[in-house]
Amino acid sequence: MDKKSVRDLDVRDKRVLVRVDFNVPVKDGRVTDDTRINRALPTIRYLLDSGAKVALVSHLGRPGGMRNPDFEMDPVAGRLEDLLGEPIHKIDVAVGGEVDEALDSLESGVVLLENCRFYNDETKNDPGFSDNLAAPFDFFVNDAFGAAHRAHATTVGVASLLPSAAGLLMEKEIDYLESVLSNPERPFVAILGGAKVSDKLGVIESLLTTSDSLLVGGAMCFTFFKAKGYEVGASLVEDEYIEDAKRLMEEAGDKLSLPIDIVAAEKMEDGADTRTVKVDEMPSGWMGLDIGPETVELFAERASGAATIFWNGPMGVFEMDAFAKGTEGVARAVGESEATSVVGGGDSVAAVRKLGLDYEMSHISTGGGASLEYVEGKELPGVAVLPDKEDS
Ligand code: 3PG
Repeated sequence: MDKKSVRDLDVRDKRVLVRVDFNVPVKDGRVTDDTRINRALPTIRYLLDSGAKVALVSHLGRPGGMRNPDFEMDPVAGRLEDLLGEPIHKIDVAVGGEVDEALDSLESGVVLLENCRFYNDETKNDPGFSDNLAAPFDFFVNDAFGAAHRAHATTVGVASLLPSAAGLLMEKEIDYLESVLSNPERPFVAILGGAKVSDKLGVIESLLTTSDSLLVGGAMCFTFFKAKGYEVGASLVEDEYIEDAKRLMEEAGDKLSLPIDIVAAEKMEDGADTRTVKVDEMPSGWMGLDIGPETVELFAERASGAATIFWNGPMGVFEMDAFAKGTEGVARAVGESEATSVVGGGDSVAAVRKLGLDYEMSHISTGGGASLEYVEGKELPGVAVLPDKEDS
């Protein structure tokens, strides 16, 4: 990464504000997946070991600019304290005199600020709010790759006010994605799933240029099948994207592979009757909810011959056991391949984790939307604003 690194800052005895992405699932006051917290630990430890006074700031959910007890950072503080093994001084604000006081009295551990999205000005990237955020600090470090596609006060505003740098997780994320995009070892196989073509149009276009083979599963394939004139029954289709699907198939030629068989059901229910059918033999009124076993075999064969794999999005409704086999099969195949494998996006990551395949992947991104925008070739505002290595 060509951006200034936290390692380039002289932080001893300095106050450092670190933007982290602690937007984690919380249920009944407990964090149910602490991956994002875990992945921020190297930067926090590095700063503590370097003698900095550290405050962390993150969003949690989308509280809409208002204080809301359901989105307070307290459950995150508890989990962070367990994982870091240091005291976490959680305060109930993100700006103002209390932040100063907490830093002044800090003897060990870190300060965790309250959810920055309790402030309406955060998502507006309001200059006054950014000033208030920056005021108590000497440096800003952005380690929130998952929020780098947002131009908010805690990702962009504050970075232009303080000497800033990328955190260790941010560097790792960008380095892996960059290696996939700019100079992948070939063959480079991309696997895309998910419900909607509309969400992935830009990514498909970009991957058709950079990859050697693009495998598409998930409900979005039914928009392609309808474009081919197949009966799709009651499957999810975005009619307004049929022309785009036709154009993409024409442009892609052999590069694009769609499923050859589908697991279908009359209802999207776990106990529902299912049938595995060829893609052009969908019974009327039935809906496709997963890729079939022949498709899993085909995609697995492509994955096993790959030197680089990028995977985003589930192959079916993997939350239901009846429609999870496609996603699980792809997760296994990616894990077993010798390729450099980068997995991006919440659902594919959840599938990998459910199968305990985390350590089989070269890199699991903490950013769903952010990794897709990066692959699409868009500039991430939270990264763009950081100074380059040679800048002062
Ligand atoms: C995410 O979970 O993708 C990031 O934390 C960004 O969250 P947002 O979509 O609410 O901005």
